[in-house]
Amino acid sequence: MRAIYFERNGGPEVLELKERPAPEPGDGEVLVDVEAIGINYRDVYERNGGGYGSEPPAIIGVEGAGRIHETGQRVAWANVAGSYAEQVAAPRKLLVPVPDGVSSEVAAAALLQGMTAHYLAADSYPIADGDWVIVHAAAGGVGLLLTQIAKTRGGRVIATTSTEEKAELARSAGADEVVGYEGFAERVRELTGGEGAAAVYDGVGKTTFEEGLKALRPTGRMILYGAASGQPDPLHLARLAPAGSLYVQRPTLQTYIRTPELLRERAQALLELIDAGLEVRIGARYPLDQARRAHEDLEARRTTGKLLLIP
Ligand SMILES: NC(=O)c1ccc[n+]([C@@H]2O[C@H](COP(=O)([O-])OP(=O)(O)OC[C@H]3O[C@@H](n4cnc5c(N)ncnc54)[C@H](OP(=O)(O)O)[C@@H]3O)[C@@H](O)[C@H]2O)c1
Repeated sequence: MRAIYFERNGGPEVLELKERPAPEPGDGEVLVDVEAIGINYRDVYERNGGGYGSEPPAIIGVEGAGRIHETGQRVAWANVAGSYAEQVAAPRKLLVPVPDGVSSEVAAAALLQGMTAHYLAADSYPIADGDWVIVHAAAGGVGLLLTQIAKTRGGRVIATTSTEEKAELARSAGADEVVGYEGFAERVRELTGGEGAAAVYDGVGKTTFEEGLKALRPTGRMILYGAASGQPDPLHLARLAPAGSLYVQRPTLQTYIRTPELLRERAQALLELIDAGLEVRIGARYPLDQARRAHEDLEARRTTGKLLLIP
């Protein structure tokens, strides 16, 4: 089978297509024929190194959808190492059955970013009717889903994006206001009548975190769930008091799907949203051997929505 390996940590150039024997399932595992592979920003962190994901040499990626080789049953997963491949050996407990009405492409596109958007809106800060919330990088994979889910909960979304084309996408996902990154805290103050936002959902990190603290209302929540622009500088907790008794969370999806029951419940909640009309926007599909180009596009901020690799 063909798979995308990284022999060492580094830039997109370390990704290489290789021919390897099919993986052999161990105890509790099944062989899955992969039909669509989900690309996530976490794959960039894994490739760069620094303690995140698999150590090289390894097959990169964790998300996909396909069919169990023995039975043909359609399944999707968000946490199986070595997913940029034509076949994976996947622990059964990490597989989510895919209903007939959902294609493998949509399943691979929705699972990781969709379950993330769901726990952010429902648990990290449970958005209530009328709340103003900030969604950074709102035209991205998580961003477009989070914007839509925030709206279904009655939230009012202030989105940030870097281009007018991305702003248009954020608006079509339901964002009430779209602003650029420059001076966004001041714009949020204006738009919320001086009060500030109930929560900031920040997957950008270094370039947005500090200013995000200034955009929150008293007792607001800073949810730092990623670092596409790099890790923010360390925060002195004492600063949170005069800033309005703020909360800060640094969550990961892994906590929210840490048992098979939690995974099943979260995936079910997401599938119900898809059934009810949540749009899963596939911004681009790349053949498996174009993984390097996909990473270049993602890091250069050229992409919108979800990126898939098709084996
Ligand atoms: N903690 C969790 O459970 C969890 C789970 C899934 C994802 N995440 C995080 O969520 C974030 C979004 O992930 P995603 O896979 O959906 O990616 P994505 O949002 O589709 O892509 C990243 C976006 O971030 C924005 N960005 C701002 N500054 C950037 C910079 N310096 N370099 C690159 N991008 C920059 C860009 O949008 P603009 O051009 O509009 O700025 C870019 O399109 C990532 O930080 C990821 O690690 C966290």
